[in-house]
Order: sequence, then C-alpha cells, then structure tokens
Amino acid sequence: MTKVIEVLNLRQGYGKTVVLKQINLKIKAGEILALLGPSGSGKTTLISSIMGMLKPQKGTVTVLGNQMPNRQMLSEIGFMAQTDALYGTLTARENLTFFGAMQGVPKARLGARITYAAGVVKLNSHLDRAVQYFSGGMKRRLSLALALIADPRILILDEPTVGIDPELRQQIWKELHHLAAEGKTILLTTHVMDDALQADQLLLIRQGEAIAQGSPAGLVAEYRVKTIEEVFLKAGRMQDAHNSNG
Ligand SMILES: Nc1ncnc2c1ncn2[C@@H]1O[C@H](COP(=O)(O)OP(=O)(O)OP(=O)(O)O)[C@@H](O)[C@H]1O
Ligand SMILES: [Mg+2]
Repeated sequence: MTKVIEVLNLRQGYGKTVVLKQINLKIKAGEILALLGPSGSGKTTLISSIMGMLKPQKGTVTVLGNQMPNRQMLSEIGFMAQTDALYGTLTARENLTFFGAMQGVPKARLGARITYAAGVVKLNSHLDRAVQYFSGGMKRRLSLALALIADPRILILDEPTVGIDPELRQQIWKELHHLAAEGKTILLTTHVMDDALQADQLLLIRQGEAIAQGSPAGLVAEYRVKTIEEVFLKAGRMQDAHNSNG
C-alpha cells in the first residue's frame, strides 16, 4: 500500500456553492503534506472531505484504499480540528483518557500514551487542571495531544501550530518527522511559511484551486524564486492571468 490518502478531481462545497475545484493529491506512508493557502481558500473544506465529514460533489477521496465517507477509517486517523473540541469541565488527563478509550487504546497502555502525548506538547505539568482554565495555545496543544493519543497511522491536523511558540513548534516538528520516519502519514494545514518548509510536499490553494504542488525546494526552483511566499505570489498571478483569459 503506497498511497495512504488519495484525492482525485475533487469538487467540493456547501449546498450549491463550489469551494474547491479539481483538487488532486496523493500522500504516501511516511510523507508529510502541508496545505498552504489564505483564509477562506478551502483548506478546512478539503480536510473535512478527506475525513469524510463532507461527501464529494464530484471526484473521489480514498483513505487506505477505502472510499470516503467511511466510518471505519476514522479509527486510523488522529484528527485535530481547527476549532478545539474539548471538555472544559474535565481535566486534560480526563480528556486524554476519554478520547483514548473512545479510540480503543487498551487500559494498560493509556498511562504511557498520556505521558507521551502530553510530553510532545509540554503539557505534563498541567494534566490535572480543568481545561476551561487553559489559554488558547494550551487548548491547541491539548488538541494535538488528543490526535496523537491512539498512535494512529494517519494524522490530519488543521492548523496545529496556531498559538504555539517557536521553541515548542520546533519540538513538535521534530516529533512529526520522527512519526513520519516510523511510516505515519501526516496532512496538515498552515499559514506559516516555516511550517511549509518542514513538509515533504506542499499543496498551495488559492480561491479553491490548487495553484502549485511539489516539494518546497522543487517549487522554489520551478518558479525561480527564493521563498515559498514568492512561489505563492507568482503562482497566484498566473492563476489570475489564466482565469481572466478563459
Ligand atoms: N459550513 C459551511 N457552510 C457554508 N460555507 C462554508 C462552510 N464552511 C466554510 N465555508 C466557506 O467555504 C470557503 C472555504 O472555507 P474553509 O474553512 O475551507 O477555508 P480555510 O482555507 O480553512 O480558511 P482558514 O485559513 O480561515 O481556516 C469560505 O468561503 C467559507 O465561507
Ligand atoms: Mg480552516
């Protein structure tokens, strides 16, 4: 099994509105793909499609060879939504225990998994505080820990680095690379160029269209620029020119 996530000619939207046009992507085991695009470009919509929370208007999404939506595939995915879905009155440990149990982590392993997941996001010393007293960044960090708790084969993370300081961001990236090296498949969205540089593959989305796709170094070379930001601007101008011609 090489392709873990595959999106073919996806058109997606809400009701009659079209948000995403002609999106294609493939992610193999051990690969990290970052979706990069401005606010409202369709990143979360694409993630919701891959999770099977939205049924494609056209095209297909497959996860581990299974067409989505498919509930069974959800147990293979550690998901971090853009909006934190946490139980505020429970402590961080209770949230982790609850999600871990829901995702089938055996009781005997739960303690070690909590220590590991909380460690990745440096929340070990806050595990027994109620989540309603957490800062925004702490809630983001706990959401990431929840995505990691069950040791899933696939991680889908919608803006995992929002509200996270540079030092911790670096530590998180180190762990994501480590997980990828173990064969996990990682899809994430970001606005941050530093994050983009850490990914193996980038998909640049603008106004619901994929305007460029490739490795960070490959894209910089292809567009003959110095930064991913410049790739984005150049590819965006080409998109505008193309769309106004036809
Ligand atoms: N539930 C919804 N119903 C109708 N329209 C929606 C819904 N969710 C998103 N949209 C629209 O789809 C478009 C893409 O939104 P999406 O959330 O996918 O963008 P995004 O790239 O994730 O943005 P951000 O970086 O701000 O999170 C926007 O125009 C948005 O208004
Ligand atoms: Mg979003």
